This record gives sequence, structure tokens and C-alpha cells, in this order.
Amino acid sequence: MLRIGFVGAGSRAKRHARRVAAHPDCAVLGVCDVDSGAATAFTAEFGGRTFTTPFELVEGGPDAVIIVVPPFAHGDVEAACLRANVPFLIEKPVDLDLNRARNVSAQVRAQGLVTAVAYQHRYYDVVRRVGEELAQRRAGLAFAYWMGGLPKSSWWGRKEMSGGQAVEQTTHWFDLLRWWFGPAQTVYAGSVTRWIPPGDPRTVEDATCATIAFRSGVLAVVASACFLQVRENGVERIEIFCPDATLRYEPNQSLTVATSDALRTYKRQNDNENEMFTDFLAAVQKGNPDGVLCPYEQGVESLELTLAVNRALERGTPVNLPL
Ligand SMILES: NC(=O)c1ccc[n+]([C@@H]2O[C@H](COP(=O)([O-])OP(=O)(O)OC[C@H]3O[C@@H](n4cnc5c(N)ncnc54)[C@H](O)[C@@H]3O)[C@@H](O)[C@H]2O)c1
Repeated sequence: MLRIGFVGAGSRAKRHARRVAAHPDCAVLGVCDVDSGAATAFTAEFGGRTFTTPFELVEGGPDAVIIVVPPFAHGDVEAACLRANVPFLIEKPVDLDLNRARNVSAQVRAQGLVTAVAYQHRYYDVVRRVGEELAQRRAGLAFAYWMGGLPKSSWWGRKEMSGGQAVEQTTHWFDLLRWWFGPAQTVYAGSVTRWIPPGDPRTVEDATCATIAFRSGVLAVVASACFLQVRENGVERIEIFCPDATLRYEPNQSLTVATSDALRTYKRQNDNENEMFTDFLAAVQKGNPDGVLCPYEQGVESLELTLAVNRALERGTPVNLPL
């Protein structure tokens, strides 16, 4: 039986905890949250006990920890896991502080620790299919959109706490683009802030648009918006244009591949989050991180790309990577 500890007892943690509690080989060891009421409610629902700090949690002997804190709240939990050599599955974005994340990454590598970042789109069967299609042809341009409304979490609208939409939300698309097209070379970016009323505590932009030149020669445009008020107007999509095909990924749903002689649509068949968790568990049991699709190190690279978007917005000039 693998005993899983949680740091963070919010909405996303509960989703992970449901899976852990239902798994025949896992049990919830307990949770640590700065909000003791949230921690108590969590253990009432999923079992285990509450802990006051991540250091106390790792002393409780978890086989793995699931880190589900908001983007601004990293640091202690990674230090605790590293000190006790406890594998962890961590939510995106892995941090807001790139230097700290790079230090964690170096220690993870030195210790050979099993880690996984919850970039769960990588686990969709149709996303794997995109990789297979791209192996047969050369992409030229990609367009990725995350057009929606303002999420409800109290910290989300504060850029200093969430990192902003590119870092917190559209990060899934940046991660996929980087996974498919390799490292980025230059990021250009612009933003829209016209609907934020004077005195509003919100510091995230209404919308941003980033253009990324990848070293592989692909150019991608990534648009993020959180100002839409009509749910039906939302769009989440990635389109990739190749000379001989156009690929359209409709997140969570399907991939359509249009070529001169056929229009093929692949419907999503698998439970991606379950596969992500199963891969992580298998890696923990074997003590070998090789089977994990997004280890911590790659989460740091996706963080770097999204922080480059923020830097390009702040400076109003193109930004070269690595940062
Ligand atoms: N992979 C995905 O698709 C996905 C979806 C939703 C959220 N997330 C990520 O999950 C993380 C949490 O999001 P959420 O929606 O659950 O947020 P939330 O606000 O619902 O919950 C966060 C919890 O963390 C607690 N917390 C804050 N600081 C802490 C600290 N220092 N130590 C321990 N606990 C602390 C809060 O009290 C709260 O209970 C974020 O990084 C978010 O980006 C990922």
C-alpha cells in the first residue's frame, strides 16, 4: 500500500485525492494546508490526518507527496521532499521563482528522485497522435488559444500570486508546443488591459498574445484571454499548419487531421489524468523516473517559456531564451 501525502487541500487537490482514495494500492496519509479548516475538511472526506508543515508531513513517512499549492506558495514543500528524499507529483506551474525551480531541478537530478508535473494534456491519446503526425511532416505555424473568463480562485487575478494567465493556465499549451517543437529562441508579446476598472485589485491582463520563434524553425502564436463573459464564446484549441496537412487539437476532445485526400478525426478515448497518476505510481514503485512523461525538469522549462512571455510584456521588447 502506497501512502500519499498532500500539500494543499483546495479544489485541484480534491480531484487528485478522489483518485488516490479510490485506488486499490494507495491510501491518503494526510494533508498540510495553511488553512486548517480546509485541511480538516479534506481529511474528513478522504481520510488520513492533518499536518501543520510540509516538514512534519514528510516525517509522517509518505511514499509520495502530491503538491497542489497555488503558484506563489512553493519553496518549503519542495525543500521538505528533497530533504526526506520523497518522490512528488506537482501541479503546474512548478513555481514562480525560476532560480529556485532550477535549484530544485538540479537536486532532483542529483538525488535521482522520481517527480512528475501535472501537464496532463501530454497523456491524451490524441496528443500522442499529434506527435506521431509531426514525426512524418514539418510544421510551419501553430496557433494556440485559451479564451475564457476569470477563474474564481482568490489568488488567480493577482499576477504576483498566480503568475498571470500564460504562466498559470495557457501554460498547458506552451508546454505542448515546447514538447512538440523543442526549445524556444525568442518570445514577442503584447497585452490588452482595457476592461480592468480603476481601483480593481486584479493585476492580470485581460488578454495577452505571444509569438514564439522556436529553434526548430516553427513559429507559434499563443493567445490567452480572461475577459470573456459569455461561456459559449470561449475557445480552447491548438492548430498546426504543415505544407501537406493541418492538425486541429480540441483539448479534452479530439484531433482532426486534414490532408489533400482525407479529413480524419480521432476522438479522445483515454482517461489522461488516470494514466498520468498510474505512470507516476509505477515510477515510485520502481524507484525509476524514466516512464514519467513530464518530470520536474521539463516543468521548469515550460515555466521559463511562460516567464519569458511576462518579461517580454514588461519590457515591450523581444526576449531571448534561455532566461
Ligand atoms: N493541471 C490542471 O489542469 C490544474 C487545474 C486546476 C488547478 N491547477 C493547479 O493546482 C494548484 C492549486 O490550485 P487550486 O485550484 O486547487 O487552488 P485553491 O485555491 O482551490 O487551493 C489551494 C490550497 O492551497 C492552500 N495553500 C496556500 N498556500 C499554502 C502553503 N504554503 N502550504 C500549504 N497549503 C497552502 C490554500 O489554503 C488552499 O486550500 C495551482 O498551481 C493551479 O495552477 C492545475
